[in-house]
Amino acid sequence: MSAATRLLGLKLDNGWLVTKELPRAANATGGTFSHTYEVRRNEKIGFLKAFAFAPAFMPGVDTPTVIQAMVEAYNHERDVLAHCRDRRLSNVVVAIDHGSVQVPNLSQMEGRVFYMIFEMAEGDVRVQMDVSTSFGPVWCLRVLKDVCLGLNQVHREMIAHQDAKPSNVLAYDRGQGFKVADFGRSSRKGHAARHDNLPVAGDRTYAPPELLYGFVAPDFAPRRLGCDLYMLGNLASFLFSGVNVTAQLLSHLDVQHHPQQWAGTYEQVLPYIQNAFTSVLADLSPIVDPLVRQAALNMLREMCNPDVTLRGHPRGRGRSSGRRAGGDGRCDHAGHPALWTERGQEHRLHPKDCRALLRLMAAPSGRQQR
Ligand SMILES: Nc1ncnc2c1ncn2[C@@H]1O[C@H](COP(=O)(O)OP(=O)(O)O)[C@@H](O)[C@H]1O
Ligand SMILES: [Mg+2]
Repeated sequence: MSAATRLLGLKLDNGWLVTKELPRAANATGGTFSHTYEVRRNEKIGFLKAFAFAPAFMPGVDTPTVIQAMVEAYNHERDVLAHCRDRRLSNVVVAIDHGSVQVPNLSQMEGRVFYMIFEMAEGDVRVQMDVSTSFGPVWCLRVLKDVCLGLNQVHREMIAHQDAKPSNVLAYDRGQGFKVADFGRSSRKGHAARHDNLPVAGDRTYAPPELLYGFVAPDFAPRRLGCDLYMLGNLASFLFSGVNVTAQLLSHLDVQHHPQQWAGTYEQVLPYIQNAFTSVLADLSPIVDPLVRQAALNMLREMCNPDVTLRGHPRGRGRSSGRRAGGDGRCDHAGHPALWTERGQEHRLHPKDCRALLRLMAAPSGRQQR
C-alpha cells in the first residue's frame, strides 16, 4: 500500500489534521497518482492532494530517477499555484498550504508524502452534473464564462494549463463560481518542466488533434495556448451536449487517417480532419439547447478548429503585432488581457469570447433558467 493512502488521522505541519479520505468519483478522469483527503484546521476545511511515490518503488524501476521526476513535477505544480495565488486570480484554484509528512512505520524514502492543500470545493463539474438535476444551458454558460476567465488570467501570466477538462474545473459555493484547477500539466514560459517535451502534456482523450499527430508548433502560443483554446471549446461541447469533440473527430475518420496509422504530416491529414469536424458539428447541432445553439456552435467552430492557425476568436488570432512588434514572448498586461506577441504575431484568448458568453447570460430568456 502506498504511503499516500495512509494519511488518515495524521497531524500535519501548520496544524492540519487529516480527517477523511475522499474517494475518487466513479466518473473521475483525473490522474491516478494523487490521493485525496479532507483536512481540518480549527473551523477551516481543506482539500488535500497527496502525491504517492509508489510508482518509483515498482520492480524494475530506476527508483532515484523516478523520484526525482516526481519531485520535479510536484515542485512545478506548487510553484505555478504559488504564483497564481500571489496574483490573486479570481478563477484559479487557491492552494492554501503545502508540505510533506512522514508516514509512520515506513522507510524514510517510501514513507515520505508530499501534499498540497486547497480550498475545499463542492466538486468538479462532472460530479456537479451527476448530482444535480437543475443544470441547464445558463448553468453551462456560467461554467464556461468562469473557465474562460480563469484561462485568460493564467495566460496573462504566461502559463498555459493544457489539461482543461471537466474533472479539472471545480465548483465553489458562496458565489465564488467555478475555478480552473490541476496545474500538474501546465507549462510556464521561461520555466522548464519535464512534461514540456511530451507531444501531449494533458489527457489525450480531450486533447487537440494536432498534438495526437505529433504536430508541435515551435512557439509557445500556438502550441500551448492553442491547446487551451481547443480544450475550452471541448469543455463547451461536453457541457452543452455531453460530446467529447476529440473522440467524435476520431470516430468520423477513416482508420487510415487515424493518428496511429497516419505516416504523413499533419498538414496532409488536415483536410480529412476538417471534414470530420464538419460532421461533428452537424451531429452536435440538434443536441444543443436552442437557447444557446447558435452561439455554442459558433464558439465550438472557432475554439476547436483542427487548424491551429484558425483557432480562437477571429479578433484574437494571429494578427500582425504592429505597434507591439519586437516583444517576442511578451504578454501585454497594460493593453489587452491574454495578449501575446511571438515572432511578430499576436495570439490571445480574446475577451470577446467571455463577453459573448456574458451577453447570453444576461439575455432575459436565459435569466429565468438556472
Ligand atoms: N479543492 C478541491 N475541492 C474538492 N474537490 C477537489 C479539489 N481539487 C480537486 N478535487 C477533486 O479531485 C480530483 C483530482 O484532483 P486534481 O487536482 O485534478 O488531481 P489529479 O492530478 O489527480 O487529476 C478532481 O478531479 C476533483 O474531482
Ligand atoms: Mg485532474
